Amino acid sequence: MNKQELARINQAVELIRQGEVVVMPTETVYGLAANAFDAEACAKIFALKGRPAHNPLIVHVASIEDAEELAELSEEALLLTKAFWPGPLTIVLPKKKDAELSDVVTANLETVALRMPAHKTALELLERTGVPLAAPSANKSGKLSPTYASHSLNDFAKEEVFVIEGDASKYGLESTIIDLSTETPTILRYGFITPESIKKILGKDIVVADKDSKVKAPGMLLRHYAPRVALRLDAIDIRSNEVGLDFGELELGNKYGNKVLNLSAKGDLAEAASNLFDYLHRLDKHASTSSAVAIAVSPIPEEGPEDGIGLAINDRLRRGAAV
Ligand code: TXA
Ligand code: MG
Repeated sequence: MNKQELARINQAVELIRQGEVVVMPTETVYGLAANAFDAEACAKIFALKGRPAHNPLIVHVASIEDAEELAELSEEALLLTKAFWPGPLTIVLPKKKDAELSDVVTANLETVALRMPAHKTALELLERTGVPLAAPSANKSGKLSPTYASHSLNDFAKEEVFVIEGDASKYGLESTIIDLSTETPTILRYGFITPESIKKILGKDIVVADKDSKVKAPGMLLRHYAPRVALRLDAIDIRSNEVGLDFGELELGNKYGNKVLNLSAKGDLAEAASNLFDYLHRLDKHASTSSAVAIAVSPIPEEGPEDGIGLAINDRLRRGAAV
């Protein structure tokens, strides 16, 4: 880490100690972070995002030991933390009775969602502040997630939120969320850690929440991750008033000369995931300065060696397309 980066982190540490909110890079998406023990600071996150108060935040920790201060880690939880932390897996667990977590963070639930990020800046910030950090994705509620510092800078330009600028997010999709607070482990959100790989570690069946599980995972409300213009999914060609998002060899064609980007020309789902939000941001911007009314998107395969990533990408696209 160079001097400049350290200086930015130290500034962020100071702000968090003062009860302020900062944007930090993580390996999934950029996060809007505040001290999870400080109710007023966490309330600022909700206000900045325009996020409904009943949608709880993920709490980021520096280690498994720090997680144990906040929640009851069952044997299954320990298996998953050992296998996947630090990394893009969030685990919902029973909150410890004496945990000082603000009720604002957990939206008054008896559970808390925990994650240890695999990103040196985020870990440095956690260690230096010495407190768990509540952090949702650093975008306005319902909008596209940020995978570049510039995305967050744009979303919060007016509010002048402090941003620790880092690299492009490695994965580009939010963490997988698994709920271990109920009898059967339940996937609440698809991500890079696939249901199959979790099943393998736990040695038992798990289930995937459907849209009727809204109450359990309030953030799974259908419309989310939405660009300003419409998304037309599973397109096989492009219309004159559209911009396009290709995947692999099956291209939409470009008969009108409109702007088209390819998520991964070689058909690699991990590459596609890391480009997804950035390309949607770019196409959305392009559409709003031209006469395009929609983004046409090629079909994204859900089967194959990386099928879990296809599921995660399609989940984001479907929510972005929902009206
Ligand atoms: O990759 C990520 O997870 C990113 C980075 C910044 O770490 N964070 C993120 O946070 O995606 P957010 O707020 O955009 O998504 C949090 C999700 C929401 O769907 C919320 O409902 C769910 O986690 N959640 C949080 N606490 C929960 C709880 N106790 N029970 C069930 N769901 C919970
Ligand atoms: Mg989000």
